[in-house]
Amino acid sequence: MTVSPDPVPPTSATRSTAASAALFARAHAVTPGGVNSPVRAFNAVGGTPRFVERAHGPYLVDVDGTEYVDLVGSWGPMLLGHAHPAVLEAVHEAVGRGTSYGTPTRPEVELAEEIVARTPVDQVRLVSSGTEATMSAIRLARGFTGRELVVKFAGCYHGHVDSLLAQAGSGLATLSVPGTPGVPAASTAGTIVLPYNDPVALEAAFAVHGDRIAAVITEAAPGNMGVVPPAPGFNQLLAQTCAQHGALFVSDEVMTGFRVTRSGHWGLDGAVEGWRPDLLTFGKVMGGGFPAAAFGGRADVMARLSPEGPVYQAGTLAGNPVATTAGLATLRLATDEVYAHLDKVAQVVREATSAALAEAGVPHVTQHVGNMFSVFFTDEGVTEVRDFAAASAQHTGRFRAFFHAMLEQGVYLPPSAFEVWFLSAAHDDRALDRIVAALPAAARAAAAVRPGER
Ligand SMILES: Cc1ncc(COP(=O)(O)O)c(C=O)c1O
Repeated sequence: MTVSPDPVPPTSATRSTAASAALFARAHAVTPGGVNSPVRAFNAVGGTPRFVERAHGPYLVDVDGTEYVDLVGSWGPMLLGHAHPAVLEAVHEAVGRGTSYGTPTRPEVELAEEIVARTPVDQVRLVSSGTEATMSAIRLARGFTGRELVVKFAGCYHGHVDSLLAQAGSGLATLSVPGTPGVPAASTAGTIVLPYNDPVALEAAFAVHGDRIAAVITEAAPGNMGVVPPAPGFNQLLAQTCAQHGALFVSDEVMTGFRVTRSGHWGLDGAVEGWRPDLLTFGKVMGGGFPAAAFGGRADVMARLSPEGPVYQAGTLAGNPVATTAGLATLRLATDEVYAHLDKVAQVVREATSAALAEAGVPHVTQHVGNMFSVFFTDEGVTEVRDFAAASAQHTGRFRAFFHAMLEQGVYLPPSAFEVWFLSAAHDDRALDRIVAALPAAARAAAAVRPGER
C-alpha cells in the first residue's frame, strides 16, 4: 500500500448534509426514530445519519453527493464490496425470470449444496433473516431434546428473538438496553445468561440445570460487543459440556459464517480443536446483500423439522430465487484469494488505527478474528477485552469524537463503539490510503475527550 505524501481526502465537513437531514426529518414523521433498524439512527454518536443514494466497490455515496470509504459493509454481508458486476449480472438474470414463486427452485438447492459442502452441516434450511435462523434453531433444539432452558452469553447478539434478548450485544449494547419491554417474562424465564469466556459459570449452570438445558447458543466468535475472541478451547468446552448433558450446541455464525474463512469461524479452529456444533446458523454474506439466512446441522436433528418431523417452521419468501442467486454468486466468488486479501487489508487498517491512537496517546485495545476486528477505547493499562463487562467499560465519548472526525474526512465507520469494522475484497490501495490518511486527526479528536466523558 502507498500513502500519498499530501493526501486530500474528500470531506463531508465541507459538504452539506442537507439532503440527508431532510430525508431524516421525513422519515421521522412516518417511522419510529426515522430508521428501520435502531443502530442506523446515530443515537449513540449523535448527528445526522447519512442517507445513501448508491454504492460501488468500497464506497458509499450519500444523497448529498459525498463519497465515503465504507467500513460497515451493510453490517457484514458485502464481502465482495458493493455492486460487484458478477453478482449484479446474476441478479439481473434472476429478476428477469420473476421474483418469487412459492415453489421450490434450482438456486435454493444449489445454495444449500454450497453451504453443506463448505460447513460442518449435513442439512440446511433457508430462511430470510439471521433472527429467523436463530429463532428456528432454538425451537428445533427444544423440540429435539424435549427440554426448555437455553444458555446464552452476555454481549452476544442473536437477532431480536424474544428469548435471546437478555443482556444482548449490538444495538442493545449501543443503546445500553439490558432487555426490552414487550418480551413476556415467560420468554426469558427459560434463558440462562452467563458471562462470556467463563468456564466456571458454565460448569455451575450445568451442575444445577444440566438435565433441563436444551441448548447453549453462542456467537462462534462474538462480534456484537466488539470483537471478543473465544479463549482457546472455550468453544470446544461448550461442545463437550453440551454433549455430556444431552444438550445441543448451537454455534451462531450469522456474522462469522463465510466472512472469516470459506466456512466461518469453525473453519479457523474446528479442525485444530476437534469440535463440531450440533446446529449452526448463517446469514449476512450468504445472502450477497439480499435477505437470506439459514440454519443447519446434524442430520438426525434436522430430521425433526417439518415436513419431515413435527417441529414446525416455514416462510413465504424463504429461499427466494433472487436472494439465493445473489448468495450463490457471492459464495462462488469468495475464494481463498479473497480471504487472503481481506486478512491483509484488515490488518493494515487495524495496525494503522492502533498506531494513530498510540501516537495521540489514546489508550485502546484492538481485537480480531480473521478479518473481523474492532477497536475498544479502554482505560489505560487494559490489554484485553474478554467479556461484555470489559467491553461495556470503554470510553464511548472518545469513540464518538473519533467516529465524527473520520466521517468528516470521508470514512464511514459503524456508528457504535460495539461493532465490527468490516472490510471487503474491493478495498484497494486507494481506499486504504484514504482511511490511513484520516486516522491521525481522528485520533487527536479522541485524545481531546477527557476519559470521564462517556
Ligand atoms: C451473530 C448474529 N446473529 C444473528 C443476527 C441477526 O441477524 P438479522 O439482523 O439478519 O436478523 C445478527 C445480526 O447482526 C448477528 O450478528
